[in-house]
Amino acid sequence: MKFFVDTADIKEIRELNELGLVDGVTTNPSLILKSGGKIDEVTRQICDIVSGPVSAEVTATDYAGMMAEAKVLAKIADNVAIKVPLTFDGLKACKAIRSEGRMVNVTLCFSATQALLAAKAGASFISPFVGRLDDTGIEGMDLISEIRQIYDNYDFATEILVASVRTINHVKDAALIGADVATVPPATLRALVKHPLTDKGLETFLADWAKTGQKIG
Ligand code: E4P
Repeated sequence: MKFFVDTADIKEIRELNELGLVDGVTTNPSLILKSGGKIDEVTRQICDIVSGPVSAEVTATDYAGMMAEAKVLAKIADNVAIKVPLTFDGLKACKAIRSEGRMVNVTLCFSATQALLAAKAGASFISPFVGRLDDTGIEGMDLISEIRQIYDNYDFATEILVASVRTINHVKDAALIGADVATVPPATLRALVKHPLTDKGLETFLADWAKTGQKIG
């Protein structure tokens, strides 16, 4: 499973990229707001750091407006994936942008039938929001299983990009189900490495090592 980092924070992206943990990046208007930067500048900076897909989201809601914005975003770098919302206009834009050879991430997916339509429109990525579904009392991960099954039934090439990830278990379950990508906030990505038994075990080993009086090298 690929890891995308779900942020527009340049410092975080640079650090995590140096650890080899970043296969791509996802942004959205809320993350751009949080970054305090301008979408074109922030996206360009991210693309300078990360060679994998970097999602930048259109904000127009009509087909013509989405296409005009997609043209601007596409000029930033070759690895920009245009993010469009899962609406009729968004799907129409998806098909058109894909025919130009550009990656498209269809976002705000909350049902398996929406994901089926995105695949039929040729989406490179479908972004089902598991955390926001959990918030409503619906098991977000059930949606990932359903989409996996549907895409496998028909050999769709669209990659399942698990979004709105909030917990370590979201990442684990996404991998168990066979999602192609999880886009993970930096804090959750860092939390994946932590385990209290690792810390405790290391502490014991280091204490015993000190008692040996030895040095390596
Ligand atoms: C990424 O593509 C999504 O926009 C993001 O994961 C949404 O996460 P949130 O539900 O925590 O805002």
